[in-house]
Amino acid sequence: MDFVVYPVNDFGPLMKGMVIGGLGIFHVFTAQFAIGGGFLMCYLQWLAMTGRSPHARQFLDGYFKFLILLSFIAGALTGVGMWFTSIQVSPQTIGKMIDIYHWVWAIEWTFFCLEVVAGYAFYRYAHQLTDAARMTLLALYTLAAWMSLFWINGILSWQLTPGQSFESASIWTGFFNAGFWPSLFYRTIASFTCAALVAMVVINCMREFDRQAKTELINRVAIFLAPMVLMPVLGVWYLATMPADSRSWVLGGSIAMTMFMGIAVISSALIGAYALWGLIYQKLYVNAATAVLLVLLAAGATAGGEFVREGVRKPFSIRNLLYSNGVTIDKVDDLRRTGWAAYDKFPLRDEQDYPHPQLKAGALVFRQQCSACHTVEGMNAISHLSKTWTVEQKRLMFAQLQKTKPFMPPFSGTPEELEAVVQYFEWVIAGRPKQWNASSDSPDYAAVLARVQGFLDEAGTAPASEQDRARAIAQGKGRR
Ligand code: HEC
Repeated sequence: MDFVVYPVNDFGPLMKGMVIGGLGIFHVFTAQFAIGGGFLMCYLQWLAMTGRSPHARQFLDGYFKFLILLSFIAGALTGVGMWFTSIQVSPQTIGKMIDIYHWVWAIEWTFFCLEVVAGYAFYRYAHQLTDAARMTLLALYTLAAWMSLFWINGILSWQLTPGQSFESASIWTGFFNAGFWPSLFYRTIASFTCAALVAMVVINCMREFDRQAKTELINRVAIFLAPMVLMPVLGVWYLATMPADSRSWVLGGSIAMTMFMGIAVISSALIGAYALWGLIYQKLYVNAATAVLLVLLAAGATAGGEFVREGVRKPFSIRNLLYSNGVTIDKVDDLRRTGWAAYDKFPLRDEQDYPHPQLKAGALVFRQQCSACHTVEGMNAISHLSKTWTVEQKRLMFAQLQKTKPFMPPFSGTPEELEAVVQYFEWVIAGRPKQWNASSDSPDYAAVLARVQGFLDEAGTAPASEQDRARAIAQGKGRR
């Protein structure tokens, strides 16, 4: 069997998912602001050119373009940061995505180059240019920024709803997957919202405008919040495209996912209600404090939404292909026989700290199979989750991961490896004593392994959800 294990980084008490999720949220927020900001700058330029707003030009040239520049620098840096973290967290996932979508990514990068060049040219030379030239640059910037969303959106939404793309020879089947359009429209509207809210903070902070000028600008900018009325429809559409089990996580099946979904929905609803009723219908003025609060709510909504998007894919990082721990579903069966040990050439950082080789083996199994979603003693720590379980309970629950919680992948190792990880957590929970009576030295080791084998066989090697299970078994990628 060809099976490659890559070196991964260990972020201590921080869960890997949180490291990449935290950076991802910041990246998405700044990137959305850069996109929505582009559209807003075009609108302001048009208002200025056509004499519709006496203050639009000053606002556009004064601060807003500077802010956009800042956001696209932050967006670009965190974008590179995403690559850097994803190769440390899940090389298999990012590798597979590049493998399938390299040309799509190349297209995205060319748009990104255009975005940088147009944005920078505007920043540097806008004051010397005619209105028509300014508008052209802004339109180019905006088109390029939105296009980078368009291309990346196809790849990200494909991770959750790849549909029949693995059976298809064309990459477009996967790219234009079921989640593509609702998430593209949703993100576009979210970009408008971010940009409008940040603009309101900036308008408030500009000393050169009196109250009347500020009100005029705020009322203009508020138009960008109007598309938020479509968000509920797009949200429901997106939910409808999700696989049934993922949908059930957010609708009460998983407390964490439901909570994040709640944060996203409530924050968006609050912004939407305030925007539509207060800002657009009543034409209210919004002061700096309220504007900042609205921006924070938008950041909360982005965070909640991104966590949901990342979280509902569990146990997969690419649905029906790759589990979050880097094992493809068709390899589980083989790994149950061969184990990972022979494939993993990388040492543990703390090799010398283990009093027995079985514990070292267990630490490796944890790193390979569990560390994508768990830590040892930090966030979502297995030592906390299984603290009260007897050793036999651990054997059963670890061996039947996908039955224990359907958002975990099946265990993909030998009975020896399973017993090693059980012993490892027994040892950690006992406070990592210097002396340890390993089960592999005990006379009933063979009997333990036979029981564990029984548990493993009972759970089978197919994923938990009925639909995925049936599919995997039909394709010969797993057993009941
Ligand atoms: C795809 C992500 C993922 C992987 C990989 C994963 N888990 Fe989990 N696991 C979870 C999540 C999410 C929970 C739920 C945590 C909670 O309920 O707070 C969980 C819960 C658990 C629990 C508690 C179950 C209960 O009933 O309370 C144990 C024990 C556990 N995991 C062990 C493991 C072991 C051992 C491995 C590796 C062999 C592993 N997990 C791999 C995501 C994962």
